[in-house]
Amino acid sequence: MSVAKRDDEIKKVTTHRLMSMKQLNEKISMLTAYDYTMATLVDQAGMDVILIGDSASNVMAGHETTLSITLDQMIYHASSVVRAVRRALVVCDMPFGTYQVNATEGVKNAIRIIQESGCDALKLEGGVEILDTVKAILNAGIPVMGHLGLTPQSIHKFGTYAVRAKEEAEAEKLVSDAHALEEVGCFTVVLEKIPAALAARVTSELSIPTIGIGAGGATDGQVLVVQDMLGMNQGFKPKFLRQYANLAETITTAVQSYIHDVKTQDFPNEKEGY
Ligand code: KIV
Repeated sequence: MSVAKRDDEIKKVTTHRLMSMKQLNEKISMLTAYDYTMATLVDQAGMDVILIGDSASNVMAGHETTLSITLDQMIYHASSVVRAVRRALVVCDMPFGTYQVNATEGVKNAIRIIQESGCDALKLEGGVEILDTVKAILNAGIPVMGHLGLTPQSIHKFGTYAVRAKEEAEAEKLVSDAHALEEVGCFTVVLEKIPAALAARVTSELSIPTIGIGAGGATDGQVLVVQDMLGMNQGFKPKFLRQYANLAETITTAVQSYIHDVKTQDFPNEKEGY
């Protein structure tokens, strides 16, 4: 049985803690959350890192891609999550268009997310192309998580959500991007949908932790979208996804029972009124 800890007993996960987890060979757990209720449950379960992913664009808003979500919308999701979390490190994605123009605009938008949401760190997609912006954000004192491989903000360039870096040239670029992100001071790198052997190589060459999604078991941690692993997203079942619950079925059954009880006047009963 788990006993709830008081706030003053909870030790907040830091970027430094993630670095020592890599050194101690302790795997890092990371899940997305976009709202207060889910973030409360995920944090209380003991998650190390909670990501306000721009996948909120798909999962919460029903868009086809992550490109549609705005800075204000990400700040709204992030501030809801921050209000819930006591222990996990809270990382927020910088949405498409907020850091690609130039370093000055990138830092301005990064500061807005940190100041208005209260999150601990930011995640940016890309390697050497965005290095000046990553450096400028780090210089402002904001920790940065990199993201390489299948970077969904570039979906129109890729044309497909298939595995990335299977060819040597793309794999070598990914390795040098990962080193460049480490050298400028990123505290972790997410590796999305790349061959397991390549993720293992990057993980062994870097001293900062790697967090994988569809990148095999050798990375220093794993991340999934919470609605996917809870089985809420019926149409999405990629090979890398392990489903830990079937909440789509649980919710549908509960909602159907409620409809039935309302229609048959079983709900509310006498005890459920004033
Ligand atoms: O937006 C997101 O949810 C992500 C993770 C899948 C890594 O970037």
